[in-house]
Amino acid sequence: MERIHLKEVSKTYKDKQVLKNLTFDIQGSFGLLGPNGAGKTTLMRILTTLIPADTGEITINDQVSWDNQNAVRSYIGYLPQHFSLYKNMTVNECLLHLAILKGIKKPEAEAEIASLLQEMNLQEHKKKKIKQLSGGMLRRVGIAQALLGNPPLLIVDEPTVGLDIEERVRFRNLLRKIGRNRTILISTHIVEDVEITCDYIGILKQGELIFTGRKEELKSLVKGKIREEYLTPDEADAIQNRVISLKQENDKYLVRYFVDEQSEEQTDVSPTIEDAYLFLTRKGE
Ligand SMILES: Nc1ncnc2c1ncn2[C@@H]1O[C@H](COP(=O)(O)OP(=O)(O)OP(=O)(O)O)[C@@H](O)[C@H]1O
Ligand SMILES: [Mg+2]
Repeated sequence: MERIHLKEVSKTYKDKQVLKNLTFDIQGSFGLLGPNGAGKTTLMRILTTLIPADTGEITINDQVSWDNQNAVRSYIGYLPQHFSLYKNMTVNECLLHLAILKGIKKPEAEAEIASLLQEMNLQEHKKKKIKQLSGGMLRRVGIAQALLGNPPLLIVDEPTVGLDIEERVRFRNLLRKIGRNRTILISTHIVEDVEITCDYIGILKQGELIFTGRKEELKSLVKGKIREEYLTPDEADAIQNRVISLKQENDKYLVRYFVDEQSEEQTDVSPTIEDAYLFLTRKGE
């Protein structure tokens, strides 16, 4: 599987440094997590060659460099955060149009589109106009267009925003399947998206990469540090800044929270990605 290597990549807009000296590898199914404004979209736009980085080096498999934009583009399929298409064209027409723009010859394009429509479960919608599609269908068309030409790297920005629960579940499963045989980079601020779809995780906070590694490594950072128990509202209030989640049950709260940092205590609550994500993004605040 293709590997993207970033070395000391930085980006500044006017006087604001949006990406700070990023050095890491992207391979397999990789989830890029971070709060709003962390720099996820900026990083993806750099990786798709839409905008240049200010400094640093990026390569694919230590061979293809971002200095050679045309070569890089042939490796990458991209579904942007705000995705739309020609509203009055049908799904099929749109995909054919985009395939031709990508330089795929018409007979090959038609065959490829037929198989992508099948894979994305869009067969019965191919004659619908883009403006008639639901959010989930449009997102699936978005993946189909990104996969035209069968690129080995797929970059997907905030794939599940605005989808209802059912579409979200279906879309995650689709991404999981696509990630089995190619490198896929997914950005999201919804922790559950990466929990289900990705094996590797990177966390951005204000332009800095504060974690990168396997999902299990991330969870192990907070192993033994979480407790879950019933507390009174006053007791819950007293540890407000350590609370992860809180469920009201009659006059008590079931509270999930981090044990005191000074404490040596080890708990046996199984950590989730969400616990670890909150732990890291809250640190120092
Ligand atoms: N073209 C631009 N000019 C100036 N500042 C920008 C530009 N694009 C983004 N920014 C700023 O850079 C920072 C990172 O933005 P970016 O869109 O990369 O974050 P993000 O992690 O994708 O956020 P979100 O979760 O909201 O999509 C933000 O503070 C944003 O305001
Ligand atoms: Mg974004």
